[in-house]
Amino acid sequence: MTALKKEDVRADFTIDQPVATYTAEDHETWRTLFRRQAEILKGRACDEYLDGLEGLGVAADGIPDFRKLSEVLTKATGWSVVAVPGLVPDDVFFDHLANRRFPATWWIRKPEQMDYLEEPDVFHDLYGHVPLLMNPVMADFVAEYGKGGVKALKLGALPNLARLYWYTVEFGLMETPKGMRIYGAGIMSSKSESIYALESPSPNRVRFDLMRVMRTRYRIDTFQNTYFVIRSFEELFKATSPDFTPLYKALQKQPEIGAGDIVEGDKVVHRGTREGWAETPDA
Ligand code: PHE
Ligand code: FE
Repeated sequence: MTALKKEDVRADFTIDQPVATYTAEDHETWRTLFRRQAEILKGRACDEYLDGLEGLGVAADGIPDFRKLSEVLTKATGWSVVAVPGLVPDDVFFDHLANRRFPATWWIRKPEQMDYLEEPDVFHDLYGHVPLLMNPVMADFVAEYGKGGVKALKLGALPNLARLYWYTVEFGLMETPKGMRIYGAGIMSSKSESIYALESPSPNRVRFDLMRVMRTRYRIDTFQNTYFVIRSFEELFKATSPDFTPLYKALQKQPEIGAGDIVEGDKVVHRGTREGWAETPDA
């Protein structure tokens, strides 16, 4: 992080990935995380994700070069990966997504942060997010989400739309003929949440419903209290293609739902035991 100068950051917040500054220890951290998740995600990650990971050739060797990844990704779905110093402003983020550029943090966590990070690093961004951008439906969905973000900003509806991203792209589950699987990047890049999200009796697992999701607060400091379950990316894409303008209006009159609440109309796949849930408030 230290090698980066302010003047190297472009107006769209991108930089050239400082490939040469990665240390042997940084690459070793990547390899450790990669190997660990490869074991855990067998039988837990959805097939679309595993196919994407394989197709990308994101490997166990070390932190990938974004340009090489982008070559493969662009051929598949028109997406590319651009390097950023960290979180970028909402409008910048949405503009990148709408133009099929995925902003990925370039730096990697320190060895003592193996299991917990407060902000996304290159492992979360590449390993968690990029494989699904190889999938044509998710590739379109995330680009549409970017356009939707620009619109939500204008309409003052960002909190609602952000919940959709949180509960799908970051923490989504998919019920497949083979069983419940992970597709959310926030789960995918976390060893402990990969197991928790699928196997723990504590959290709720509720069928995805667009308006329900956009009303639901979420956890930023603990595992999720509720995971929303889709059956396919096509379902997600279809449910989110209508114009959200009237939906945002309707949402203003509907109360928010707590991160762990079950409400009338929910299609409950599993009602959580609430065991181990934190007392701290939802975001
Ligand atoms: N259809 C949404 C709108 O009109 C945009 C969107 C697409 C949002 C896909 C999320 C995901 O605002
Ligand atoms: Fe993320």
